[in-house]
Amino acid sequence: MTTAIRSEVALELSAATIGYGGVPAVRDLDLSVRSGEILALLGPNGAGKTTTMLAAVGAIPLLSGSVTALGAPVVEQVERNARRGITLVPDNRGVFHSLSVADNLRVAQRKSGSDAGFVLEYFPKLKGMLRQRCGSLSGGEQQMLALAKAMLPEPRVLLIDELSMGLSPIAVQNILPRLRAVADEQQMAIVLVEQHIDLALSIADSGIVLHHGRAALTGSADRLRRDRDAVESAYFGVEAS
Ligand SMILES: Nc1ncnc2c1ncn2[C@@H]1O[C@H](COP(=O)(O)OP(=O)(O)O)[C@@H](O)[C@H]1O
Ligand SMILES: [Mg+2]
Repeated sequence: MTTAIRSEVALELSAATIGYGGVPAVRDLDLSVRSGEILALLGPNGAGKTTTMLAAVGAIPLLSGSVTALGAPVVEQVERNARRGITLVPDNRGVFHSLSVADNLRVAQRKSGSDAGFVLEYFPKLKGMLRQRCGSLSGGEQQMLALAKAMLPEPRVLLIDELSMGLSPIAVQNILPRLRAVADEQQMAIVLVEQHIDLALSIADSGIVLHHGRAALTGSADRLRRDRDAVESAYFGVEAS
């Protein structure tokens, strides 16, 4: 999935050590994703994926190292970073269950001032559900709505935590190719935390496997797809021989 012109680095973590109460949960992490590229951030529970995403949007501070996005340091102000185009879809998705699909989109639209039209083209199923209460949607449909809301302000860097939480493999299979289209067509940089390793690597450009807060394996998605044993080992913290 390389484009003819190498696009700019949209998000970069350099030697990032991130933690809580001064105790590191992620150590010395290097991560880089270009506009139009998808990075799959993989690893078991507790590996530090969410921690990494939170630091990338300025929700938690770094203990050391740096986070840069779109040519400027990421400061510890989530709203300000969101206005600069750096957005996180949290693992709880941030949709309002008691509101209709249309009203959920309206809330996001009011904040961003942009038109919902283009996001619905990526998730056309939502077009037929605008009047339905969000709480009555399937997990997959709710995730589509969460992604649509996050995409409305046209972010340049979109981080998606646990996309497949509570979803059937079919729903994940349905949604992931749309993210590929979003990255390609909108030149969005996407960081995807995903438990379906093969599905994630099939649409990603690169991947990082975190284990106990460290990058146990980093490489192109092609390479990681070809070397599933290495991915497996990194996942379970087996030292590469
Ligand atoms: N708010 C918090 N306070 C203290 N420790 C935390 C907090 N959130 C996460 N952690 C710890 O940080 C580590 C990484 O967690 P997390 O980033 O949520 O992992 P993942 O998203 O990969 O499952 C874990 O050991 C977890 O217990
Ligand atoms: Mg997590």
